[in-house]
Amino acid sequence: MIGRLNHVAIAVPDLAAASAQYRGALGAKVGAPQAEPDHGVTVVFVELPNTKIEFLEPLGDDSPILGFLEKSPSGGIHHLCYEVDDITAARDHLLTEGARVLGNGEPKIGAHGKPVLFLHPKDFNGTLIELEQA
Ligand code: CO
Repeated sequence: MIGRLNHVAIAVPDLAAASAQYRGALGAKVGAPQAEPDHGVTVVFVELPNTKIEFLEPLGDDSPILGFLEKSPSGGIHHLCYEVDDITAARDHLLTEGARVLGNGEPKIGAHGKPVLFLHPKDFNGTLIELEQA
């Protein structure tokens, strides 16, 4: 059911520093910051030949990644995003498999303008999973 790895998301305490490091030391193609107030984050995408890296910096006082950065102040891998052809069908299938979908269970529009859902990390080997409609 799942397709390509769309991105690996890394929570960062300093988006500008992370962007400069990937652009400079790693020679990566780094995009411009995008504020995503609905998700409580500012994101930067790093384009790699086979996938993307998504930097997440907290935006606002109730950002969902504030707690993550309190536990891991220097940042860390936050989630993996897999592509699916039909996000509603994928969700319904996962619910029948006993997986928990975060939030109200309805897809939200993600950072690429496409519907996304998040799956509970305790159901997936301690890894937060994002599904994005391909
Ligand atoms: Co993501």
